[in-house]
Amino acid sequence: MASNYIQLEKLGEGTYATVYKGRSKTTSEIVALKEIHLDAEEGTPSTAIREISLLKELKHVNILRLHDVIHSETKLTLVFEFCDSDLKKYMDQHGTRGALEPTIVRNFMFQILKGTHFCHENQVLHRDLKPQNLLINRKGELKLGDFGLARAFGVPVNTFSNEVVTLWYRAPDVLLGSRTYSTSIDIWSCGCIFAEMITGVPLFRGKDNNDQLLHIMKIIGTPSHQQFAKMLQDSPEIVLKEFAVFPKMNWMQVLPKASPLALDLLDRLLKFDPAERISAAEALTHPYFTDPGASLAAPNPPMSMGPPSFNFPHPVQAQARRQQQQYAAAPQQHYQQQAYGQMPPPSMFPQRQQAAPQSQSQYYGQYSQQQQQQHQYGQGSMPM
Ligand SMILES: Nc1ncnc2c1ncn2[C@@H]1O[C@H](COP(=O)(O)OP(=O)(O)O)[C@@H](O)[C@H]1O
Ligand SMILES: [Mg+2]
Repeated sequence: MASNYIQLEKLGEGTYATVYKGRSKTTSEIVALKEIHLDAEEGTPSTAIREISLLKELKHVNILRLHDVIHSETKLTLVFEFCDSDLKKYMDQHGTRGALEPTIVRNFMFQILKGTHFCHENQVLHRDLKPQNLLINRKGELKLGDFGLARAFGVPVNTFSNEVVTLWYRAPDVLLGSRTYSTSIDIWSCGCIFAEMITGVPLFRGKDNNDQLLHIMKIIGTPSHQQFAKMLQDSPEIVLKEFAVFPKMNWMQVLPKASPLALDLLDRLLKFDPAERISAAEALTHPYFTDPGASLAAPNPPMSMGPPSFNFPHPVQAQARRQQQQYAAAPQQHYQQQAYGQMPPPSMFPQRQQAAPQSQSQYYGQYSQQQQQQHQYGQGSMPM
């Protein structure tokens, strides 16, 4: 069975597995082979079992498709559709100091929310949304991958093990010890990813649980006593400590490059109280996506966009800043090219992004076409 695929170069390494590029010997199709090494004593890890049973059900254009499962004594190989990049690598390679162009941010954000909505509609939480777990193919399709930690939540038991989402994308209620979280956990991560695509830098980069909470409160403000009391009522297991009182920052100060509509959506995704967070379904109808007249950039994008002052510089930012200083005296046009001119190769993007601004109905029409396609896929059976 395993010999049906030729293993090619390594694509990535994660917590539980090594991912290789592969080619089918029969069809020559290029795939991704996720190899999970099995402990002879323990057998198939439960994380893998979860991933497989969830993915069998989840068929959507914005969810990484599982083609096949190969089970041997020593390893379990999941055969996935191949993607050219993950969002982290994509931002590093095609972003301007990691930051993506506004139309690309909007396109990717729409796809992230579509995939998330589909999970939530099907009673599945992803629980580990982060740029490394979002795959992008050459058609510009973005897919939620790595469901290793995800779990169906349709069952009556609604308490989960703590410590699930990678720290920087982890919701404050989870950081406070909540075990009754729901779809809102993924919505928080979506908000963090949204901000990161806009600036190129992770929004909240805490060193540990408490430091992470501090980073969050410094920007979205420390909740009031009443707000904390309400959260405690919803999740009695959360543990409250004495927190320094920070006022809520104006999002314009935090992300000066973003449009007012982008910031409005971001604010609704990043609510401290999970009960106040927008749902994926609502977020998809936000005017940021639907308003045809919506300007994608800030009214007067600042010419000089340093990294947010509260954050560490992006690895390549230090170098970029040195370059910027050289350009500081140069004509404005030159500088603008430096800041906004670095476009990703066209082949990585669907036609809709290269076209000149089109009407919103067209934009939507293309997505509903995708939706129709996905329904067709949905009717087929999973080759497993
Ligand atoms: N289908 C795929 N196509 C291309 N690269 C992939 C694919 N799946 C995973 N990768 C790469 O491998 C990395 C690890 O895969 P992931 O499924 O997240 O494993 P883990 O559970 O170990 O984190 C990803 O961050 C990505 O860079
Ligand atoms: Mg991963």
